Amino acid sequence: MSSEIDLQALTARLDTLAAIGAIEHGGVCRLALSDADKLGRDQLVQWMHELGLTVEIDRIGNIFGTRPGSDADAAPVMTGSHIDTVATGGRYDGSYGVMAGLEVLRLLNLHGVQTKRAITVAAFTNEEGVRYMPDMTGSLVHAGGLPLEEALATVGTDGSVLGDELQRIGYAGALPVGRIVPHAYIELHIEQGPVLETEGIQIGAVQDLQGISWQRIEITGQSNHAGTTPMRMRRDAGYCAAAIAVFVRDLAKRFGGGQVATVGSIELHPNLINVIASRARLTVDLRNAREPMLRRAEGELAQYIARLVHEESVRIESTPLARFEPVRFDPRLVRLIEVIAAEQRLTYMHMSSGAGHDAQMMARICPSAMIFVPSHQGLSHNPHEHTEPADLARGAGVLLEVLRRLADE
Ligand code: HGY
Ligand code: MN
Ligand code: MN
Repeated sequence: MSSEIDLQALTARLDTLAAIGAIEHGGVCRLALSDADKLGRDQLVQWMHELGLTVEIDRIGNIFGTRPGSDADAAPVMTGSHIDTVATGGRYDGSYGVMAGLEVLRLLNLHGVQTKRAITVAAFTNEEGVRYMPDMTGSLVHAGGLPLEEALATVGTDGSVLGDELQRIGYAGALPVGRIVPHAYIELHIEQGPVLETEGIQIGAVQDLQGISWQRIEITGQSNHAGTTPMRMRRDAGYCAAAIAVFVRDLAKRFGGGQVATVGSIELHPNLINVIASRARLTVDLRNAREPMLRRAEGELAQYIARLVHEESVRIESTPLARFEPVRFDPRLVRLIEVIAAEQRLTYMHMSSGAGHDAQMMARICPSAMIFVPSHQGLSHNPHEHTEPADLARGAGVLLEVLRRLADE
């Protein structure tokens, strides 16, 4: 049946969803709980109803569409991902896993296949974490890693409150959070990196996911005249922000291995050509697959900040925004993905995930694993994100078989 994935239907849904919040170059901007996210959610719920699924929405806005199994007492098998995007996102990140899940259930309906366990397709709230932090909020709350009330009180980068926005868009559901504890969770996702395409491999069986450390750094110096203030008298918040960006990049190069470091946002005040910045606000994203190395990176950055405070006579405050340890996925499920890829005569490889995913939170409550398909030129969080249609179909075909096996065990 996996060869019957209707690529036309799958890409049509992806294109319909991508038109919601469309930006130039074929990209998408559907920030969590925005009007565009609401429209995307409405479209997803409509498709779920058309497939005859039972649709439930929980109190953090996670959406679950369930196709019943013959054994109502058996825990469901769950698949899914997210449909919120970064502000300059592509059409596949997250959406592909949710749309492929719908395609699997459409095919099971078409063939009248009755599975023992129910199969649920999930779309988790605020996976991207660019408006409200941390990322993976909905799945983190579902997995019991963040209290619901704390998540609802989160203040966004735009000053909005997560719970208010959830109410406003009509997705503050009634289902208690964490109510669905799956038998297993399988997430299909684009790789968002260059490995599969470079290696010419069709399927990634994801065995682990690196640790993530996000922090906001606020620097307070003194604004002064750019022309008259001697260098030795400056308390330059702009310089300190730039110095931290250079420091973390050098740290990543020094550590080597899989260490990555990103300063993705810097704001200066007053942000004027002839005024020494009195304030700077920047974010630092550190990731490493090895927890001791991630801790060492955080420690070295903290030491450097203390040095800057002393040398530059500024005040610096760091606020943690997200901190997740590395996650290993369930070896049995990883093996199942490989076995099914081999049965379908697809090339596959073990791999790690550099990106965060809802699967890393679901791994806290049930056996979980991920299936990757290639990203063209490894591009993601970029409107030019692309995966070949044939790869989209191959990934959905593997997902179908993996879900069927799990739903019948
Ligand atoms: O940041 C991440 O890795 C994910 O896209 N939220
Ligand atoms: Mn994603
Ligand atoms: Mn993403």
